[in-house]
Parts: sequence; C-alpha cells; structure tokens
Amino acid sequence: MAELADEAMEAEFGTVAAWTEQAVRALGPEYAVPAGCRGSGSESALRWLADGLELRPDSRVLDDGAGVGGPAGWLAAERGVRAVCAEPMAEAVRASHRLFGLPGVVADAQGLPFADGAFDAAWCLGVLCTIPDKAAALAELRRVLAPGGRAGLLVFAATGPLTGPQPEGNTFPAAEELPDLLAGAGLRLERTGRADLSDSPPEWTERADAVDAEVERRHGQDPRWQEAQEQSGRVGRLLSEGVLVPWLGLATAR
Ligand SMILES: C[S@@+](CC[C@H](N)C(=O)[O-])C[C@H]1O[C@@H](n2cnc3c(N)ncnc32)[C@H](O)[C@@H]1O
Repeated sequence: MAELADEAMEAEFGTVAAWTEQAVRALGPEYAVPAGCRGSGSESALRWLADGLELRPDSRVLDDGAGVGGPAGWLAAERGVRAVCAEPMAEAVRASHRLFGLPGVVADAQGLPFADGAFDAAWCLGVLCTIPDKAAALAELRRVLAPGGRAGLLVFAATGPLTGPQPEGNTFPAAEELPDLLAGAGLRLERTGRADLSDSPPEWTERADAVDAEVERRHGQDPRWQEAQEQSGRVGRLLSEGVLVPWLGLATAR
C-alpha cells in the first residue's frame, strides 16, 4: 500500500513535474506560473497569503513543498521577493530553478536543511495532506522561522467522512484540528480564510489547460500520466463535493 502511494506521488509530483517543465518551455514563459501552481491554482489565495506574510523586499522567504515553483515564481514576479524552494522531488526542484531561476533544495518538510530562524516568512501550499506526520513538518517549519516570523498555509481539510476512491498517500486533517496542530508547533494562528480555487483570471486557467494538453499530447499513453490524472481527479472530486475545503491560515512563530 505504501509502495503504491509512493509510486502515485512520484508520478504526480516527480515525473509530471519534469514533463510540465518541458511543456512550458515549448509553449512560452507566460505559461510557467499558471502551470506551476499545482496545489494552489488561485491567484487570490496567493495574494491573500502574500499580504498576510507582510513581506519586505529583503525578506528571507521559504516555499516549503514548492513543487515546480509556480507560487514562488508568482511571488517573485508580483512582490519582487525570491523565495528558496524546498521540495522532496528532484525533478520539481530542477523545474523551479529552470523555469523561475529560483534557488532550491531537495528536502522533506520534516527535515529542512536550514539553520534555526533562517527565514522571516514561509508558505506551505497544498503540502500538509501529503505528509503523515504533520506535527513534525509544522515543528520544522517553526524551527526555521525567526521569532515573530510569519507562516502562510493552504491545507486541503476534511469537513466530514471522505467517500469514494481516495488519492493515494494523502491524509487530510479536519479543519478543526488545524489550530491545535499549529499551536503544538509553536505557531499562533492569526487569521483563517477559504480559497476559491476557481477565481483565477481566465488566462490562468487557459494556460494551465494548454500545458496539460501539451503534456497529454506528448505523454498521454504513459501510465504515469494516467496515474497522475487519476490522483488529481480524486482530489478535484472531493473538493467539488465539498467534503474537502481549501483552508487558508496565517500564523506567527512564537
Ligand atoms: C499539491 S503539490 C503543491 C505544490 C506547490 N506547493 C504548489 O502549490 O503548487 C504537493 C507538493 O508537496 C510535495 N511533498 C510531498 N511530500 C512532502 C514532504 N514530506 N515534504 C515536503 N513536500 C512534500 C510534493 O512533492 C508536491 O510537490
């Protein structure tokens, strides 16, 4: 079972990351941010979080579980802040570097290779549900933040029992668990919100869809593409049924 989950995650977040990078290079740089926002394809959610992080041009920022770097690329373009991308899939780290020129490291959220207090702010978007030991990941996030540093989170949270086939390798926390989980890690929850994942400008959706179509054209027969589509389709179904919600939180390191 664990092996199946690992394979599914490797397909969705590793192999498809590399394919996404190739497709963006074929289509053009304006496709990079929409296609690169995997858990967080909502510009208003990124704006809400970035505002709450109270960034300055010299802020030291971490993107924890950065994927192919779409959100960090957006942050660089819109706010002029270059985040460090940490992400366990090497293909995704390479993509974030090649597409956005951002510094990155291959690392799990539970073992970040940074000194205590190395960052003024961090965000972690659509990542916690892929990590069984959420307390360990949050404690590590707190450790690398300076006291008073800000953390922004997008978490796919369960509102009740989940029915039907579940995405492999995901464990969704209940929204009510999140304040205590954060408090246990030394993160004081300041504000919460709800992302609307369908409110991005039409050109975002069109560009993300164009990149998916290009990947499908090149790799549609590959079982790893079909696996990745199946996984993201399962999350999409749970979101559309409302049994998963995209929970937003802003917290301060105590
Ligand atoms: C839904 S994607 C979100 C990517 C990116 N944050 C975004 O919003 O586009 C989830 C990401 O979490 C990463 N991930 C999985 N396990 C992780 C772990 N233990 N630590 C950090 N990231 C992890 C995956 O590789 C994947 O890139």
